[in-house]
Amino acid sequence: MLEANVRELLDVLVRWVHLVAGIMWVGNSLLFNWLDRNLERDGGGDERHVGRIWLLHSGGFYDVEKKFLAPSQMPRVLHWFKWQSYTTWMTGVALLTLLYWTGGASLMIDPSVAHLRPGQAVAIGVGTVVGGWIVYDGLFRLFGRFEAVATGLSLAFVVGVVWALTHLLSGRAAFIHVGAMLGTCMAGNVFAHIIPSQRTLVAATREGRPQDVAVSAHAKQRSIHNNYLTFPLLFTMLSNHFSVITGSQYAALLLGVLIVGGALVRHWMNVRFSFRAWIPALAATVVACVAAVAVVVTRGTPAQASVDGAPVPFSSVQFILQRRCTPCHSDAPSLVSNPPAPDGVRFATAEDVALWKERIAARAVVTRTMPLNNRTEMTDEERDTLARWLAQGAPTR
Ligand code: HEC
Repeated sequence: MLEANVRELLDVLVRWVHLVAGIMWVGNSLLFNWLDRNLERDGGGDERHVGRIWLLHSGGFYDVEKKFLAPSQMPRVLHWFKWQSYTTWMTGVALLTLLYWTGGASLMIDPSVAHLRPGQAVAIGVGTVVGGWIVYDGLFRLFGRFEAVATGLSLAFVVGVVWALTHLLSGRAAFIHVGAMLGTCMAGNVFAHIIPSQRTLVAATREGRPQDVAVSAHAKQRSIHNNYLTFPLLFTMLSNHFSVITGSQYAALLLGVLIVGGALVRHWMNVRFSFRAWIPALAATVVACVAAVAVVVTRGTPAQASVDGAPVPFSSVQFILQRRCTPCHSDAPSLVSNPPAPDGVRFATAEDVALWKERIAARAVVTRTMPLNNRTEMTDEERDTLARWLAQGAPTR
């Protein structure tokens, strides 16, 4: 059992590295995609020439040429891009382990969704991350030549996983595990396909053989998958900040819409150099996604409490918060698996309560994502009492 403060420290360090490595990986990948689409052919008669581009960055000009190497024309120093990807994946798994798979899996289990034992929840989490890659990779190994079939089956599989996880785990755990599965597929593509293909190309050049076009095409296919997965993946990584979405009763639908929407946005950006109507198409996709989220989120919101009725005394509110919230939200929490006062939220004094009233409404009344996984068994009557008190202007005297 790790001490709570050691856990926090590790969380900060690993998350920081995860973010930096992720930015480097995604940044590189977007830059190379952009380069590929903007290359200009100016190689004259050179049949090895693919394209060239001039860039301006931080006070210098860069002249970049893409070309097939002549056999035996190996450059002395060649830069590979792989450690960003591996580092992002390894720190991601470390974070999952630290936050979700250890400590009694308390962030994964939500009794209002499913009654799981910690071991079962962790098995589902690990199974999703490992199994997702095996299924996706298997589908493309088997049906890779029939790209539409493999893509359709993979999409159906993702939809199935989204549905299953949102019916087994807490909302936030479901979202982050779908994200971890997508991220594992992306890192797996780099590790098991893109880098080995590149090794084959390098070996061929060293040994004086011509570059095999099929090997390049294979790497390109997996690289395009990664390209389309980037935006959906980044959304799932941010999703834990949006309890309205992860805590919604329509979470599966929202996650599905945002995965497809994110991939479509990426698509319009990909084709923007050859498809003139890309801006309206992109705008329509964003508006449709936002509208879908807005409709679903507001439908999932309980009716507004009425201002009428007897005034709710502040003492009743304090009693509810003491009973249902301070077991975690205090400097000496009794539900020990959490660090003291999560997010600095405390309800010790009337000032504390007044300060947090908007967020109490958001988390305990509207989205019902607090108490965390309803661990302290807050009742609907108590939520109604809070709602009435808030509607009455949240008096703290
Ligand atoms: C079992 C422990 C636990 C209980 C009980 C609990 N919380 Fe939380 N709370 C957390 C954790 C962990 C976080 C940080 C992660 C998050 O935001 O989901 C948090 C974060 C918050 C935040 C800050 C984030 C934001 O959205 O602004 C608020 C506000 C909050 N809780 C309100 C409440 C209220 C109100 C109650 C009681 C009705 C409550 N919590 C009960 C564990 C708990």
